[in-house]
Amino acid sequence: MLSTYKDSTVYQIYPRSFCDSNGDGVGDIPGIISKLDYLKELGVDVIWLSPVYKSPNDDNGYDISDYKDIQPEFGTMEDFDLLLAEAKSRGISIIMDLVINHTSDEHEWFRRALAGEEKYKNYYVIKKGKNGRLPNNWGNFFADCPWEPFGDPANEEYYLHLFSKKQPDLNWDNPGIYDEICDIMRFWLDKGVAGFRCDVINIIHKRSYENGKKHLALTGKEHYLSTEGTHKILAALRRDVMDKYDAFTVGETVLVDIPMANDLCHPDRKELDMVFSFEHMECDQVGVKWFKTAFKPKKLMRILTKWQKGLGWNTCYFENHDQPRSVTRFTEGGEYRAIGAKMLLGLLFSLRGTTFVYQGQEIGMTNGAFDSLDEIVDIESHNVDKMARSLGIINPFRWHLIRRTSRDNARTPMQWDDSDGAGFTTGKPWLKIHPNYREVNVARDSVDADGVSAFFKEINAFKKQSPVLKDGEFSELHMGRKVFVFERVRGDERLIAICNFSKSPAAIPIPVSGRTVISNYKDASDNGRLRPYEFMLIDPKGDKNDKGR
Ligand code: NOJ
Repeated sequence: MLSTYKDSTVYQIYPRSFCDSNGDGVGDIPGIISKLDYLKELGVDVIWLSPVYKSPNDDNGYDISDYKDIQPEFGTMEDFDLLLAEAKSRGISIIMDLVINHTSDEHEWFRRALAGEEKYKNYYVIKKGKNGRLPNNWGNFFADCPWEPFGDPANEEYYLHLFSKKQPDLNWDNPGIYDEICDIMRFWLDKGVAGFRCDVINIIHKRSYENGKKHLALTGKEHYLSTEGTHKILAALRRDVMDKYDAFTVGETVLVDIPMANDLCHPDRKELDMVFSFEHMECDQVGVKWFKTAFKPKKLMRILTKWQKGLGWNTCYFENHDQPRSVTRFTEGGEYRAIGAKMLLGLLFSLRGTTFVYQGQEIGMTNGAFDSLDEIVDIESHNVDKMARSLGIINPFRWHLIRRTSRDNARTPMQWDDSDGAGFTTGKPWLKIHPNYREVNVARDSVDADGVSAFFKEINAFKKQSPVLKDGEFSELHMGRKVFVFERVRGDERLIAICNFSKSPAAIPIPVSGRTVISNYKDASDNGRLRPYEFMLIDPKGDKNDKGR
């Protein structure tokens, strides 16, 4: 196990949108290499690389057609090896995205299954329809039907796909799959990667294929959520593969609650090292993620607190390639964009757990500025539109749902500078660049002593040398409508974090005194009132007149 994973700052790169080195409008591996010094300067320890494997790109690489090859748009295996070596020479490790719930339907295994080879048919979940009906009543994560005819429709066979129909689910009851996946993991670990972010890992094994209990979107989930079979597979992968390397896993675990998460990543159980939970990402939705409600900071505070206290070690994140941008979701944005982005980073780094950030978060990038569905590429958004149409939801309501929730909000190209193409590409970008790139970009932010990235570097560096921030226990001190105060305690060391989730000034709700060690305002407040979106980290033992910054 990579012993340092708890102390690492992990930076997620979505390769398509990070940096395009050859002007084809798509980010690539040489582009990533050209930005390694930038990442080093930010204080990044680990890069989580979203999939770079060969893929027909139905779901932007999460549909893999060859696990041991590189997507040609992104470069070659030589480019990948160079990336690994160049990152290593800067003290940066790389973890890969391991997508093993499904493959692409263009993977050789699926092709051979379609060609009638029994061995490969048994790699997938292929079931007979029942009297002209589908094999069961399950739902699908992409607002689609999870069953698609397999081969000749006259055979009445269907294959399961919990995501797009180009992502057939693997049959984890077949021990042959286990062997194939071990081989793939060893291939990358032998190259020197530091582990895996394991895609939807808690649903890989299905307990049965019976009809499920009716649910708004995911009827049938009780048949595949965190099954005993999945636990056994994870323990075996850990024992047979991961434990032989200096590497770690973080599982993307959908729909988990705290007991489930504990079972998946408790150190004694030796399954995963960490999990990504989602409850805090669901604080502004009702039922399914496409139905958003107003953001209520107190709900977020409560959920964060529950997980901080309920799980031994958390992953702390507010963004990834599937989530709208945090500064748009959780702050007013506009004139408060930068200060709000810094407050959210302050909160994130002050929580107990491994910090994960997503490209662009370090400069406060915002949700995409899409004008219509035509500008959206994400398959999920297009499926949601179809579903909403079928429910009789008319435009502009359909567009209203999608504009707020689309995953493309986070996938707009990285804004490096204010030149045409935002320094991302010299060609036509694969996805619309946010027009605010003229103001919001790395070149401009990084020379601003009060910029978002300067704050990112400061709090990241602070956390690395602060045993109490790294490891101290968490306790909430105040959860108000707008103001969150909590402490971190380790022995006799203590730090207090205060966040104002509002553009309105607010009183500090409980008596707090001491030295402000980090603040998102240049001069720390001293009149006991919080300014808009103010964040402060306070050492109660320090002298308040010693600003320490
Ligand atoms: C979760 C990934 O984060 C998402 O982008 C993808 O579409 C699904 N899993 C399916 O692989």
